[in-house]
Amino acid sequence: MTELHLWLRHEARSTERRTPIVPSDARRLLDSGVTVTVEESPQRIFPVEEYESAGCRVAPAGSWVSSPPDTVVVGLKELPDEPARLTHRHIFFGHAYKQQPGAAALLRRFAAGGGALLDLEYLVDDDGRRLAAFGFWAGYLGAALAVLQHRGRLTAPLAPTTKDALDATLRPAARDAGFTALVIGALGRSGRGARVAFATAGADPTCWDLPETRDLDRRALLDHDVMVNAVLATSPVPPFLRDQDLDDPARRLRTLCDVTCDVGSPLNVLPVYDRTTDWDAPVRRLREEPPLDLIAIDNLPSLLPKESSTDFSAALLPHLLDFGVSGPWGRCLDRFRRARRELGVTER
Ligand SMILES: NC(=O)c1ccc[n+]([C@@H]2O[C@H](COP(=O)([O-])OP(=O)(O)OC[C@H]3O[C@@H](n4cnc5c(N)ncnc54)[C@H](O)[C@@H]3O)[C@@H](O)[C@H]2O)c1
Repeated sequence: MTELHLWLRHEARSTERRTPIVPSDARRLLDSGVTVTVEESPQRIFPVEEYESAGCRVAPAGSWVSSPPDTVVVGLKELPDEPARLTHRHIFFGHAYKQQPGAAALLRRFAAGGGALLDLEYLVDDDGRRLAAFGFWAGYLGAALAVLQHRGRLTAPLAPTTKDALDATLRPAARDAGFTALVIGALGRSGRGARVAFATAGADPTCWDLPETRDLDRRALLDHDVMVNAVLATSPVPPFLRDQDLDDPARRLRTLCDVTCDVGSPLNVLPVYDRTTDWDAPVRRLREEPPLDLIAIDNLPSLLPKESSTDFSAALLPHLLDFGVSGPWGRCLDRFRRARRELGVTER
């Protein structure tokens, strides 16, 4: 059997500071006989020197294109637009199986080169549960930003930070009034993160998950000052909020953070806004009287690159150590082949 050679690539998106493999885990891979090459990257939160001193080989940014054919290229987000033919196996979040913009083009590039996408979103256990995900930190940041906005302390543009620095701004000051908070999807990864951030902010949120929304009490929902939506919707359910709820003069809700960000999808449980917000303008006012502010940022974990990378890498490591053609990676490959077939593209 060929020895595994992982190639950690530089991320094409300049604001992406996270990495799927942190230096200490790269060392664990090396200790197990895996070859690890790490591309230089000006923005990665861990300097390349840390990987080098762990024993990794170092290569220039973008040099994966000419890496040996058996190399498995590892990243997080989108590939650069070139080359047109992708010949390697790539591990990353492809966002290519739900007809997203650019999905067909990406699958065609794989088909043209004979390579394969092993999509991290589809790396699941026997029961279909995700094995490595950023949800906890998405929820943590979603709740943290909502609290800061609610207290009038959120400053834009947002920039990557550390948990310690964030927590220092979150802890309640003597002048801070108390508030009531609600987390929906509270039992999931993001929901758990939101609960921890609320606790740091001195709040004890109401926690709802599937049983509590089956027969939704919108009056009770609107009676909270701050709400974080962290559900993973898999089938359509009645919306949690409608326009008429926002217009309700008795509404207590002032700050809404939608971690789920399913805007535009038929599964969207918050069809009260039409586009996400971002780091430059994190907050949009949805109503003036009484005020209601929305935060709906779709790359929240990137704001805590070190913590989110460290947790993600720890979850991914056992599966990289066990890299093979069956089990979770086999399922990833099957999913890729199915997507390619559905698109009607065949391997060259
Ligand atoms: N904004 C971001 O940056 C960001 C980052 C990561 C994940 N996300 C999104 O956050 C969402 C949650 O991700 P996760 O990893 O926490 O998922 P998860 O599967 O760990 O948890 C989802 C939770 O939602 C609950 N749920 C599902 N439908 C519900 C309903 N109708 N009512 C109440 N609860 C319901 C589930 O029971 C579960 O507890 C996903 O949509 C994911 O795509 C966003």
